Amino acid sequence: MKSNSRQDVILNSAALPSHVAIIMDGNGRWAKKKMMNRVKGHEQGSQIVRSVVTACRELGIDTLTLYAFSTENWERPKYEVTALMMLLKKFIVSEREDLLKNNIRLSIIGQKHKLPLDVQKEIDATMALTKDNNKLLLNLALSYGSREEITTAVKQIAQKIESKDLNLNDITQDLISEHLYTKAMPDPDLIIRTGGEYRLSNFLLWQAAYSEIYISDTLWPDFTKDEFIKILKNFQERDRRFGKVTCSTSNDG
Ligand code: FPP
Repeated sequence: MKSNSRQDVILNSAALPSHVAIIMDGNGRWAKKKMMNRVKGHEQGSQIVRSVVTACRELGIDTLTLYAFSTENWERPKYEVTALMMLLKKFIVSEREDLLKNNIRLSIIGQKHKLPLDVQKEIDATMALTKDNNKLLLNLALSYGSREEITTAVKQIAQKIESKDLNLNDITQDLISEHLYTKAMPDPDLIIRTGGEYRLSNFLLWQAAYSEIYISDTLWPDFTKDEFIKILKNFQERDRRFGKVTCSTSNDG
């Protein structure tokens, strides 16, 4: 991933998104274009993950959420699922020291219990080791699906009502947010999807209510720091009205 320090300087750090979430799509097509196995695309994709984490830390972004494996991805061919799990484990082990050194905290959203035990063990170790870090929160969405997340939250709330720990009127938007995997973090300000498809694919559906969305045609293994900075600049030029009106316009949106 190329760096461009001149572009870094132009960014207005005060108006950076606090939480960036990325749908890292296009690994398979990247590999296909190069007549390689899809797994090669995921391997190259892992390298890009490394660079984006570094870029976020350097730029001062607080939270980076990466859609690394969805609830639907379990349906992929067994060899691809196994390869993705191995890559994840490798990443979590090999990055451990760097995360620690660079004050980055690792966290997970999704069905951690569905991951292979050895992967869970390494995640737990890295999460424990980095728990007090506060420069950047690196949040990996693993076996994550928004509909599963919301369904689980609804069940938990229903149980609390059944046991009389909650009343019907206690159900607010905040209460629902507090029962999601993302409870301890702000909603994403910016969601980037690489690979050119215009959909959210079951990613942060509740949390994306007022996220800015940027679709890039670049396949994830070709994503660069320059493009990341270009997207951040585009974000800074947007007028976020959250359904209200601003002085500059009377249009709702
Ligand atoms: C989508 O591309 C990508 C994934 C399902 C996996 C993403 C995984 C990585 C980037 C590497 C491992 C992650 C970490 C955090 C080390 P696709 O395979 O659907 O691409 P396609 O749409 O071109 O087929």
